[in-house]
Amino acid sequence: MIKPDATSAGNTGAITKMIEEAGFRIVAMKKAQLTPELAGKFYEIHKERPFYGELVKYMSSGTIVPMILEKDNAVEDFRKLIGATDPKKAAPGTVRALFAKSIDANAIHGSDSDENAAIEGNFFFSQFERF
Ligand code: CMP
Repeated sequence: MIKPDATSAGNTGAITKMIEEAGFRIVAMKKAQLTPELAGKFYEIHKERPFYGELVKYMSSGTIVPMILEKDNAVEDFRKLIGATDPKKAAPGTVRALFAKSIDANAIHGSDSDENAAIEGNFFFSQFERF
């Protein structure tokens, strides 16, 4: 999911290009805006964390671009492509090193397991939106 800081800065195309050039197939993709309730639900796993309130507020503040991606070893390879959560620690050339503004406004989110990728894909897309 491309986050509001990256969409508002006009970086959706550049980030999508990096994703495709890294060998991912974009199976589904759209523009959307989360309500605070839906952002809270998406990040429910972080509910007890001190940053949850700010994260929910930020993630519902603007346009997001959720995608379903396909590739062998996708979860691990995508996390390498996007870099560390904190852009200050993200390796040079990664999406977050190039485009992130802060730890919340960190340009992009990637699923942390195949299981969560399925849950998060179902959160954003119905079966009719995939091909
Ligand atoms: P993301 O991959 O979307 O998953 C949860 C998000 O919480 C994370 O990226 C960050 O944008 C945000 N966040 C804010 N503070 C922290 C923190 N201290 N540790 C981890 N994630 C954080």
